[in-house]
Amino acid sequence: MTRIFSGVKPTGHLTLGNYLGAVRRWADVDQHRAEALFCIVDLHALTVDHDPGRVRRLSRQAATLLLASGLDPELCTVFVQSHVDEHARLSYLLECVATDGEMRRMIQYKEKAALERKRGGSVRLSLLTYPVLMAADILAYGTDEVPVGDDQTQHVELTRDLAVRFNQRYGHTFVVPRATRPEVAARVMNLQEPTSKMGKSDDVGPGVVYLLDEPDTVRKKIMRAVTDSGQDVAYDPEERPGVSNLLEILAACEGSDPAALSEAYTSYGALKKDTADAVVELLRPVQDRHKQLCADPSSVEGVLREGARRARAMARPTVDSAYEAIGLLAPSDG
Ligand code: AMP
Ligand code: TRP
Repeated sequence: MTRIFSGVKPTGHLTLGNYLGAVRRWADVDQHRAEALFCIVDLHALTVDHDPGRVRRLSRQAATLLLASGLDPELCTVFVQSHVDEHARLSYLLECVATDGEMRRMIQYKEKAALERKRGGSVRLSLLTYPVLMAADILAYGTDEVPVGDDQTQHVELTRDLAVRFNQRYGHTFVVPRATRPEVAARVMNLQEPTSKMGKSDDVGPGVVYLLDEPDTVRKKIMRAVTDSGQDVAYDPEERPGVSNLLEILAACEGSDPAALSEAYTSYGALKKDTADAVVELLRPVQDRHKQLCADPSSVEGVLREGARRARAMARPTVDSAYEAIGLLAPSDG
């Protein structure tokens, strides 16, 4: 059976970008057609300046939101990365396969390191090695497919390279995975700055729709979205990023095509209103279910405990065989 792995990092509140680019597909499609694991990748949240209490709160919230979005623990495994030692264990081995140059070429590293430096802070070494930990997350489970938004494609390519290199040098150990992307909304843009990704950690406020935003807030953010000069509604992400982003969001909500959808509109106002309505309706059931789950935190804890137990059992044999293949002496049982 196909194995699927994906993750979300608790560095901020989950956004509409996370939902349309990744989480909705995990719930609607992936968990039904494959053996799927979805992980709150909390170790990744320590790669930038962080507040310990906030990371803990956001991890709990992300888990609750994944379940509220429809991930069903009867169908898939939901767990927290730091509860399963195999990720860190395998990451070190992969650091012995990856190169320094490879790490420094990662776009996300370059962007985030530049941002940290601009803020006058220092860059954590773990920010550089982050993609290796991500590769470990994926390879530990014999993953075939990694459903992610566009921003993660380069990291999955690196994961493939590391898997192939390890297999060639030390014998076949890892499945070589591939990224899968949604047809629409693989890169939802910031509503105020439609040439940048709608990211949960980099920006606050008006350009980002959070999954837990009140309906009024969602409406305001979408009605105030930056549009482009020009009057007609056309789908052209290069020349008309603002309007195209709204068309992508609406198309993703409706299951239609953004270019075809543009024909139905003659004004930005009508497009914004329909997009706002569609997003409010999209988020309503997720928010309702989130409220119910928050009233029963022990059920979420139970799901994470069982998820970690299952994940450990799946990862252990692969990581053990990687340890052996690379030349480490197996501990004796006696
Ligand atoms: P992250 O928030 O970086 O942990 O991302 C979790 C998942 O959401 C990854 O698969 C990302 O590719 C996806 N994602 C994050 N932001 C966006 C966005 N603005 N548009 C589409 N997908 C996104
Ligand atoms: N790096 C991913 C992001 O920023 C999160 C992530 C970590 C991930 N490990 C993963 C995604 C493994 C897919 C598979 O979004």
